[in-house]
Amino acid sequence: MSPSSSTPFSSVPSPLGYGHRHLLGIEGLTADEIGVLLDLSEGYVALSRSQSKKTALMRGLTVINLFFETSTRTRTSFELAGKRLGADVINMSVAWSAIKKGETLIDTAMTLNAMHPDVLVVRHPDSGAVKLLSEKVNCAVINAGDGSHEHPTQALLDALTIRRRRGSLAGLVVAICGDILHSRVARSNIHLLTALGAKVRAVAPPTLMPTEIESLGAEVFFDMRRALEGCDIVMMLRLQTERMHGSYVPSTREYFHFYGLDRDKLAAAKPDALIMHPGPMNRGVEIDSEVADDIDRSLIRAQVEMGVAVRMACLDILTRDLRRDNAQAGGG
Ligand code: NCD
Repeated sequence: MSPSSSTPFSSVPSPLGYGHRHLLGIEGLTADEIGVLLDLSEGYVALSRSQSKKTALMRGLTVINLFFETSTRTRTSFELAGKRLGADVINMSVAWSAIKKGETLIDTAMTLNAMHPDVLVVRHPDSGAVKLLSEKVNCAVINAGDGSHEHPTQALLDALTIRRRRGSLAGLVVAICGDILHSRVARSNIHLLTALGAKVRAVAPPTLMPTEIESLGAEVFFDMRRALEGCDIVMMLRLQTERMHGSYVPSTREYFHFYGLDRDKLAAAKPDALIMHPGPMNRGVEIDSEVADDIDRSLIRAQVEMGVAVRMACLDILTRDLRRDNAQAGGG
């Protein structure tokens, strides 16, 4: 579908080909459903670049951002996305929530449910927690990252960034490098990239390579230079020390030597290979500043911009039925 046929700004929504109540992961979405979300996002890139960035599409609807883990770009971009669509957005973070006073995840969900939100955006340190929560509430739920399981909007924004630069994902070779073991970004990206016809290489030291990664469709590499040979995209990941119990790398210095992206290792990739990172970046640990800040090859800033557009598309698509019902009930 072309961006113009997706009519993202009309008040009475047309049905689009996305057949789910929630967005819990990329696993289980078809290539067509991913395409629908990406096409819809294109319209929101244009809107976000225009002078008047707001629509009234979600006026009267409430989005609650429920974050049990810290976040900068994901939470802010969901907040901005909701506000640009005209919704009321409330941010709840664990630091001041009742969870600190002993309330369980489900109690919190039920309390929030009683306030009639229309969309809950949830980040949680445990894999599967967001799905569990989605089974207890009446509204649409978006997974903003659950443990090391999935982070679907990150994979969608990565795909949109690549697609805008390269036209298509089909046939591209993408190396995902770093702490794959703890990375929900890696898992969601492997599902999405393989669904859209890209080839994925997973690169990590043996201690940070999960055993199931090959069954997801990625080719496993322990040698970074070999993995980068002929690559179109190099996607770097942070060492997620907050999820590590014990020692996974001898030292950050040695880690950088073998797995940090610098000009030297990048030379193995295609001459026009592009660099990505979901952030937050640890310069000098997994990536050298020289490559991270290379304006010709680094897509890191574009990824942040695409994040807002993709989240607007997700909020739009998950509230379409509701908005149509509301419009019909109001005679609109
Ligand atoms: C990622 C996350 O939280 O999973 N970051 C993000 O969403 N921008 C990756 C990370 O924290 O390293």
